[in-house]
Amino acid sequence: MADLSTEYLGLKLANPLVPSASPLSRDLGTAKRLEDAGAAAIVMYSLFEEKIMHEQLHAERFFLQQGLGHAEADSFHPTMTGRMKSYQEEYLEQLQRLKQSLDIPVIASLNGTSPGGWIDYAIEMQQAGADALELNVYHIAAHPDESGNDVEQRYIGLLAALKRHVHIPVAMKLSPQFSAPIHFARQLEAAGANGLVLFNRFYQPDIDLDTLQVNPRLELSTSAEALLRIRWIALMHGKVNLSLAVTGGFHTAEDLVKALLAGADVTHVCSVLLSRGPEYLEELLKGMTQWLEQHEYQSVRQMKGSVSQRHAIDPAAYERTNYMSVLDGYSSPAGVLR
Ligand SMILES: Cc1cc2nc3c(=O)[nH]c(=O)nc-3n(C[C@H](O)[C@H](O)[C@H](O)COP(=O)(O)O)c2cc1C
Repeated sequence: MADLSTEYLGLKLANPLVPSASPLSRDLGTAKRLEDAGAAAIVMYSLFEEKIMHEQLHAERFFLQQGLGHAEADSFHPTMTGRMKSYQEEYLEQLQRLKQSLDIPVIASLNGTSPGGWIDYAIEMQQAGADALELNVYHIAAHPDESGNDVEQRYIGLLAALKRHVHIPVAMKLSPQFSAPIHFARQLEAAGANGLVLFNRFYQPDIDLDTLQVNPRLELSTSAEALLRIRWIALMHGKVNLSLAVTGGFHTAEDLVKALLAGADVTHVCSVLLSRGPEYLEELLKGMTQWLEQHEYQSVRQMKGSVSQRHAIDPAAYERTNYMSVLDGYSSPAGVLR
C-alpha cells in the first residue's frame, strides 16, 4: 500500500487531504465525519477583522449609551461581567471543542486586511490549541493611490505583526493577483511565513439586470480552476523554502495527484465537500492511492514535485513557450467558422 503521509507547516500528516476554511468546521459532527473519512487536518472558518471591529464598536456604543442613559434602566442591560458571548469568544470556544474532539491538527484562520488590535486574537488561538494559523488577506486593491508594492507591504506588515505574537507556524493564503508571485513568496518567507496557500478565490459581485443592484455571488468552484494553482505550485516548487498548499478547484483524485506532482505538500478541499459531503474524502483517498499504485510510486513523498518546473520533461511548458502553439492549435467545432 502506498505511503500517503506528508508534512505541512511542520505537521506530520497521514495524507495530503485538508478540508479548507469553510462552514465545514462550524459543526462538531461534520468535523468528526471529515476526520473519520480521512481528513489529515482541518482549517477552521475564519475569524474576520470586520466582525471583530463591528462588535467592539457596537459594545462600546452600547455601554457608553448605558452610562448616559437613565440610571434606573441600567439593570435591564447585560453587564460586562454577566454577559453574552462575543464573536471572538464563540470562535475560540469552537476551536477548543474541535481540539478536544479531533485527533487531527486544527489550523485556525484569521481574515482581514489592515494592521490593528484584531490580529492579537492570534495569541488566544494559539492558547486555545491551534496547531498552526492561516492568514487570509482578502484585499481588493481598488484605490488608485495603492501600488502593487503597497499591496505586498500590507501582506508583509500583517504577517510580521502576527509573527511577533505567536510561535506556531503561519501560512499565508494569497490571491492570484500578484505580478511576481515567486519574488513576493520569498519576501514572505523572509518575514517569517512558514507556508503558502495558493490561491484565494474572490467571489465576484454580479449586476442584477432587473434591479440594477450589485449582488455578491458565491459560486462553488469547478476543476477548471485547479490549473492556475497547479502551474504556480510547479513554478514555485524548489524556489522557496515554504510549505505549499493548493486551494481552488480540487475536486477529483486526478486534480489532487496533479497538485502533488507539481509540488504541493497538501491539497485543500472545500467546494467538492460542500456539494458532495464529508464522506467524499474516502473516494478521493481511494482514487489517489490507486493512481500511485498504478504508476508505481511508493509514496506521496516520492511523487511530490516530480513534475514541478525543475523536474518536468519540458520545463518551459509552464512558461510562455507553448503559448503560441496553443493559440495556433485551437480549432472551433466543425462548421462553426466554416
Ligand atoms: C461557503 C464558503 C465559506 C468559506 N469561508 C472561508 C473562510 O472563512 N475563510 C477563508 O479563508 N476561506 C473561506 N472559503 C474559501 C475556501 O476555504 C477555499 O479556499 C475556496 O472555496 C477554494 O476552494 P474550493 O475550490 O475547494 O472551494 C470559503 C468558501 C466557501 C465556499
